[in-house]
Parts: sequence; C-alpha cells; structure tokens
Amino acid sequence: MPQHSRALCLFRRLPAAPLLATLLAQVAACDRQPLGGRATGAEAAPDTNPAFLVAAREPGDPLPFLTLGQRALFERGRGVFQTEFTPATGLGPLFNNTACSQCHEDPVVGAGGEEVETHQAAFHYGACDDLSAIGGPVIQDSVTAALHTALGIGKEPPLPEATGTAHRTTPSLLGFGLLEAVPEAEILAFADPFDRNGDGVSGRPNRTADGRLGRFGRKAQFATLREFNAGAFANEMGITSPDEPSEATIRGHPFPAGVDPTPEPELTREATDAATAFVQLLAPPAPLPRTVVERRGGLVFLGLGCASCHVPVLVTGPNRVSALSLKIVQPYSDLLLHDLGPDLADICLARARPAEFRTEPLMGLRFKTAYLHDGRAASIDEAIQAHGGEAARARGRFLRLSPADRDALVRFLKGL
Ligand code: HEC
Ligand code: HEC
Repeated sequence: MPQHSRALCLFRRLPAAPLLATLLAQVAACDRQPLGGRATGAEAAPDTNPAFLVAAREPGDPLPFLTLGQRALFERGRGVFQTEFTPATGLGPLFNNTACSQCHEDPVVGAGGEEVETHQAAFHYGACDDLSAIGGPVIQDSVTAALHTALGIGKEPPLPEATGTAHRTTPSLLGFGLLEAVPEAEILAFADPFDRNGDGVSGRPNRTADGRLGRFGRKAQFATLREFNAGAFANEMGITSPDEPSEATIRGHPFPAGVDPTPEPELTREATDAATAFVQLLAPPAPLPRTVVERRGGLVFLGLGCASCHVPVLVTGPNRVSALSLKIVQPYSDLLLHDLGPDLADICLARARPAEFRTEPLMGLRFKTAYLHDGRAASIDEAIQAHGGEAARARGRFLRLSPADRDALVRFLKGL
C-alpha cells in the first residue's frame, strides 16, 4: 500500500476526523512557525481562537498567558519542587532522594533524569496487588540515619510476596498539565479493547480503584497530577502531606518510635498545592524546526502506524485555568495501555497487566539519553526494535524501511 494511503487509514481510529483534520492543519502551520511562550502575532489573542497550540520557547517555561497569580504560584511551586528535605523537615525514614528536582532535573527542573528506581507488585490470577499494605509498590533505596540505627538496614528490603520487579527511569513532566486537561471521552475514543478494526492495535484505559481514568505513571495508574504528586512526596521522599497524611510502614508495621519525630502532615496544604500547580503549568517543549527530511520522517511515522498509539495531537477541554483551556498539545500518546509483549513485561498496577504500558509520550524525546520504561534501549532505533505485542506490526514495517526512510524517521523523532 502506498505510504500516504496507509497514513490515511490511521484516521479511521481517530475520532471526529474533520475536526482532527483542521487541527492537524493548524499544527502543520504551527510547525512552520513554532509558537513560543511569549506573545507574537496570532497567539497573542488566545481567547479569540477556538483552540491553539501551546509550547514553551525555552524548556521549563510555564504555559503562556498565566495570570500574575498563577505565575506566582508556579514560581512558589518550583521552589517546593526544588526543596531539599532533611530528617529535621520530614525526610524519610525511607526515601529515594531528597528533592523532586534531584530526579526531575535534566535539562531543566521538571524534566526527566537519570535516576532509576525499583517497583514491585504481585499479579495473581489476573488480579493486581500493588503491595501498598506492606511497603510497595515503590521500594526505597535509602534510609535515614535514625532508621539505620534502629533497624540496621540501608534500604527497604525487597518484598518476597512480589511476583514481579520493575525498574523505572525518571520521566519528564513538561506539558503534563495539558494531558490532565484532555477530556476523558477524547482518550476513550481511541480505545479499541477487542481490536474491532483488526489493525492489531487495541488499547484500553487503566482505571483507579474508584473507576476514574488513569493517565499518569508508566502504567497510567494515577488519574490526576495532584494524587501522583502526593504519592511522590510520600514514596520518593517520605514526606507526608494533607493528601497523603500517613507515614509509610515497613512490611506493614509502623516505624520504631522516635525514628520520624516530625508531626504529620510534613508538608502544608499551601506547599502541596503550589507543587501541583507547578507541574500542571509547565509548558510542553516546542518541537525543533523541521527540514524537508524531518517532515518526511513525520510521514514515515504515520505510514508505519506508530500514530495508532503515539497519537500526535490531543485537545484539552474547557478548563477554569484559561492557559489549559481548549489547547492543542502534541504528546504523541493516546494515554492508553497497550500490550507490548513478554520481553518488556514487568509488574501489574491497578488494571494494567505486566505486559501493558501506557503509550509513552514522545514530546521532549530529544532530551532523553536512555529509552523505554527501564532505560534498557540506548538509542531510538533500539527502542523501536524492542516493541512487540500490539506494536509488532509497526516494528515489522520499521524493519523493512530503506536506510534513508529510517534515518528520516529517527531525525523526526529527535526533533520532538
Ligand atoms: C528518586 C527519583 C524521583 C523523585 C525524587 C521524584 N520522582 Fe517523580 N518520577 C520518578 C519516576 C521513576 C517516575 C516514573 C514512575 C512510574 O512510571 O510509575 C516518576 C513519575 C512522576 C510523575 C508521572 C509522570 C508520568 O509519566 O506520568 C509525576 C507527575 C512526578 N513524577 C512528579 C514528582 C514530584 C511532584 C516529585 C516530588 C514530590 C517527584 N516526582 C519526585 C522519579 C522521581
Ligand atoms: C501498540 C502501541 C504502539 C505502537 C504501534 C508504537 N508504540 Fe512506541 N511505545 C508504545 C508504548 C506502550 C511505549 C512504552 C514502552 C516502555 O516504556 O517499555 C512506547 C515507547 C516508545 C519509545 C520510547 C519512548 C521513551 O521515552 O523511552 C519510542 C521512541 C517509540 N515508542 C517510538 C515508536 C515508533 C517510531 C513507532 C512506530 C514504528 C511506535 N513507537 C509504535 C506503544 C506503541
């Protein structure tokens, strides 16, 4: 099949094709003249546009058109995100690092990083236990001096109840507030759990225990950034907050008395809210300007069927924060779970089975140096070759590309 008609076939999976065509045309126009965080011309009047593409001029910038109050909250939140906790301010007793920005730091505060952490869960007869009752799913690699003295351990011991162990690299958070603002129905429209269109790609939503659509984490196990962040304070730093007020346990037992004297919650409501606003208001990085080769690479991407999962464009719904309202974002993800085959499989989380992962957003891919959930792939080429399961057909088409097309594809991806 010629490449352009294969690309068109993809649009069968996409909802509201005419709307999408208009949006893609807008995005194509934006590619020629990347929009920045600072107002020039058309984007100076966002409220007169039904939807417009937002991207940071410099990575790490806030979304454009924040009110002064939102801008101040963003800066305050960045301060919380960069706060180095100590045992005196609540760090630990178990922790992975001392500040959000110790891990989410490269190339800017809020982006990704080199830290790799360990998660464990138990998968029995299709049901997932995240082992949170006994200290899972995050297994901390550090302890405070007080806990070391009390229990003689240097990290959280692995859980023998686990049926799987996972390694997780630190992802970038740039642009994730826009992903939170995409209406549920728009994401669910991409789901095809029984593969009724027979393209080999299904895609299904993860859901929280109370039934909400999951979006965040490699397994899309969290519905909102607020909840993810509260979990991150607790699991990564041992910092309790109003949203996550109980201190962790060690195998389900409280820590020995006196080991963690700071009263709960260790973080105020104001600081928790500011940290969440910071993450919500981080702008997505703007793709690099494209030459003819990268543009061709973009068409190769569509032609291979990569966009069946790595959906290039999503649109946010109406939002009380106008900087998040009716905006076009280019995440290259459908935020759904896909089975990528046994080689990548590790743990379950909520409804995600061991082999299912959320389509990893490709925005900001150029800042990564190691790819896939555990960083096992040293190059983009290797990452694509590791796709199996639902992505096996796309991988097969990738392997049959001419060297020139393969090069164009990788150059396109390196510009995201
Ligand atoms: C020890 C390193 C480390 C620290 C410290 C850390 N994170 Fe993370 N962060 C990670 C890793 C690893 C993941 C991926 C988790 C997963 O895939 O389930 C992640 C994922 C996230 C996500 C979800 C991103 C996505 O892809 O959906 C958010 C939001 C986040 N972190 C916010 C925070 C905040 C806020 C803090 C501080 C309270 C923080 N993180 C501290 C390592 C860290
Ligand atoms: C069936 C859905 C699906 C298809 C089709 C698919 N991908 Fe993916 N892709 C994923 C998922 C899920 C991940 C995350 C896997 C992981 O972390 O182990 C991913 C990860 C990636 C990554 C690594 C991202 C990172 O930040 O580490 C790259 C690069 C990538 N895909 C490119 C492609 C390209 C190029 C194609 C087309 C040849 C493609 N993918 C087709 C679902 C898909």
